[in-house]
Amino acid sequence: MAKLDASVYVTREIPRPGIDLLVEACRQVDVNPDDRVLSRPELLAAVRGRDAVLCLLTDTIDAEVLDAAKGCRIFANMAVGFNNVDLRAATARGIAVTNTPGVLTDATADLTWALLLSVARRIPEGDRFTRAGKFKGWGPMLILGGDVSGRTLGIIGAGRIGTAVALRSRGFRMRVLYCDSVQNEALEQAVGAKQVDLGTLLSESDFVSLHVILDATTHHLIGARELALMKPTAYLVNTSRGPVVDEVALVEALRRRQIAGAALDVFENEPALAPGLAELDNAVIPPHVGSATIGTRTRMATLAASNILALFRGEQPPNIVNPEVLPLREV
Ligand code: DGY
Repeated sequence: MAKLDASVYVTREIPRPGIDLLVEACRQVDVNPDDRVLSRPELLAAVRGRDAVLCLLTDTIDAEVLDAAKGCRIFANMAVGFNNVDLRAATARGIAVTNTPGVLTDATADLTWALLLSVARRIPEGDRFTRAGKFKGWGPMLILGGDVSGRTLGIIGAGRIGTAVALRSRGFRMRVLYCDSVQNEALEQAVGAKQVDLGTLLSESDFVSLHVILDATTHHLIGARELALMKPTAYLVNTSRGPVVDEVALVEALRRRQIAGAALDVFENEPALAPGLAELDNAVIPPHVGSATIGTRTRMATLAASNILALFRGEQPPNIVNPEVLPLREV
């Protein structure tokens, strides 16, 4: 079969099946040979003359990059979040933007629960304790954590991932509260979840889990004021985007034990951490691994590639987030 007349750039090595799909179908495919984020000048040079770019959440795709990629038809982001792409600028230039929803819902929900349990039961702290040779035998007061079963789980953002996290609470017999601009009837029916306002959710939940997208309305959604509404025995879990939380305010709240703990998979200025965060025993801080399973990353890679191929085959990419850039489809 004739190859698609497309020159594609992939900004960093991704699981091979995603690359293979592109290589089999496209005239030219180049991949950043180094396993690191491209510098700004490298990114600007690499996208020049390309028809398609497969990018990652660590690539800032703004107007300057889009202009450097003059003639490019699609930026396929290998992530469900696309806050790293200036969508308005892409749309203004007629460039399609796609993401990879759905395929990472379970992995991210699973990780959210791993974090929730880890911070409540102080698993990383206990692990460090044992490795340091401090474990001298069982003790009635050794590393006591918070209860999970039967407690209240507060979900902020009841979309795909928030819903999947809430559904997993069934085994823990939890009361579920959620906060979202739209009602989630399926979630209400499945687990008896109750839609409440943010203040109620924060003050009544034992675990507050964040699942909103990052935009101007959710930047610092959780700051000093919101943390002050939480119970001193409550935990915050964030697997969404770092800037949703004011990390400096959080460090202060954790330091003063204003809340019991926090588990963060994402950081405000990734990969930098707010001063003091790494020193806190009541913070669990994996390095943004929500979707990091072999199967999930493979599905994300192939989905991102498929979005590119669809466009060059004259089809609507399945995960386009700015469909207005495409010619109207016949109905
Ligand atoms: C996403 O897809 O937005 C995740 O953060 C990637 O791990």
